[in-house]
Amino acid sequence: MSDVIFEKKGHTAVITVNRPDTLNALCEELISHINSALDAAENDQDIFTVIITGTGKAFIAGADIGEMYEKDREGIRKWARLGCDLNARIESMSLPVIAAINGYALGGGLELALACDIRIASSTARMGLPETGLGVICGAGGTQRLPRIVGDGIAREMIFTAEKIDAQRALSIGLVNRVTDPEALMDEALAVCEAINKNGQLAVRAAKRAVNASRDTDIHDGCIFEREAFSSLFDTEDQKLGMGGFLAGEKNVRFKNK
Ligand code: HXC
Repeated sequence: MSDVIFEKKGHTAVITVNRPDTLNALCEELISHINSALDAAENDQDIFTVIITGTGKAFIAGADIGEMYEKDREGIRKWARLGCDLNARIESMSLPVIAAINGYALGGGLELALACDIRIASSTARMGLPETGLGVICGAGGTQRLPRIVGDGIAREMIFTAEKIDAQRALSIGLVNRVTDPEALMDEALAVCEAINKNGQLAVRAAKRAVNASRDTDIHDGCIFEREAFSSLFDTEDQKLGMGGFLAGEKNVRFKNK
């Protein structure tokens, strides 16, 4: 059985991390296979959105502690780069990526979820950055992305205490957008994807680039970036279809993504 399962559901690619013996802990090979699954999603013109989830009781319970344990400073730096690059790739890839957090999302697992565009959690999920309890800190963006999502104070508390929080707490601090019953998680994630998939995908991708730009620029440059992206969409057939459809009273515009 493969440690990453790739399925197509309509215009959505569902990538399931499947290494349940270690609660889906991220080892070098698994990271490479997740990258291959993301390649498959990106190279398929018919895929508009991606869901990442896990099998069993974990989303991803962190990086593989066994694989990391013996490494020295140079070795772990190279290893950490794999996780950093994976998360940066998820964040900057053109397609929206939804984390369907089915269980434990800890350490490197939560860091991966933080790089996703939208997080939805099962009511049984538990999340945290336990690294300080292991004598280390996050190595794949946790200290950088968590404060941007939940705010500085809450992030410091989570990182310094290493405590796990439950799904309701995660919802209350804005770490996840929605909480569902465990059995409804995939339907909920797919429904969010469907709501995205029906829109003009050139617009959705431009929106992702523009929101990403808001993290890296001041508001003045960010608004210039947005205005340019907005204007560029007036070169597309979709803009004529979307606005023309509205003016003609059409309810369900079928975009060409051109
Ligand atoms: C390797 C892991 C693992 C991990 C669980 N396992 N998490 N193996 N790396 N991160 C293995 C266990 O050793 C065990 O193997 C099996 O999965 C089941 O786990 P249990 O502990 O028996 O399950 P449970 O009692 O339900 O406890 C679940 C848990 C606990 C609370 C999630 O497993 C846990 O605390 N795991 C570690 C979580 C963690 O610290 N993550 C951060 C890692 S550091 P056996 O063989 O005994 O069945 C990190 C740094 C990122 O992520 C840096 C990125 C560059």
